[in-house]
Amino acid sequence: MVKVAIVYHSVTGTTMQLAEAVEAGVSSVTGVEVISAEILGSDIIEGRFENSALIKQLSDVDAMVFGSPTFMGCVSAQFKAFADATGELWADSAWSNKIASGFTTGSNLSGDQLNTIQYLQIFANQHGMLWTSLDIPGNCDPEGRNRLGAQSGLIAHSLDGELNPIDLVTAKYLGQRVANIVSKFSE
Ligand SMILES: Cc1cc2nc3c(=O)[nH]c(=O)nc-3n(C[C@H](O)[C@H](O)[C@H](O)COP(=O)(O)O)c2cc1C
Repeated sequence: MVKVAIVYHSVTGTTMQLAEAVEAGVSSVTGVEVISAEILGSDIIEGRFENSALIKQLSDVDAMVFGSPTFMGCVSAQFKAFADATGELWADSAWSNKIASGFTTGSNLSGDQLNTIQYLQIFANQHGMLWTSLDIPGNCDPEGRNRLGAQSGLIAHSLDGELNPIDLVTAKYLGQRVANIVSKFSE
């Protein structure tokens, strides 16, 4: 069975809701196991991400979907601490050829969330991972998914702490897409 991990950080729960929707999408594909891994503030000790059990668990998955809120135009400090802790795997190409994708949310419609997605993509590519885009043309989908029109990954928006429900539907689709792609690669 192929495995997909969703690795995310969330403070007020909106990124967590997106992660749960991605998880539902992954789970809807037969033969794919999903692992949900939340990066916690308590994983970070003196500025360093110290949850080596999680990093070890990720060596075994076929795909990872990364999620972070957009804070000050990029990933949260907690997500970056996680990313930096994976540097010890970098020289060994331990994550090379794993599938990757990503999602973020912000409270502004154009709050520099794209920079967060681009960072997630660069992070994946630092490890030699294969980045999965979002293949829903913005404003062309009958269901209205990908309403904000990002194609590199999922950009979501929350108003007064409430996510737009369409963004959750898009997140579920992204999970399905990653699960389908990883299944295809494993044939
Ligand atoms: C320190 C801080 C910085 C933020 N920076 C941005 C930003 O650059 N762009 C944006 O659109 N929203 C920004 N926000 C809003 C958050 O991205 C938004 O509230 C998000 O839904 C939080 O995700 P969470 O519920 O998963 O913690 C910021 C919030 C905080 C607390």
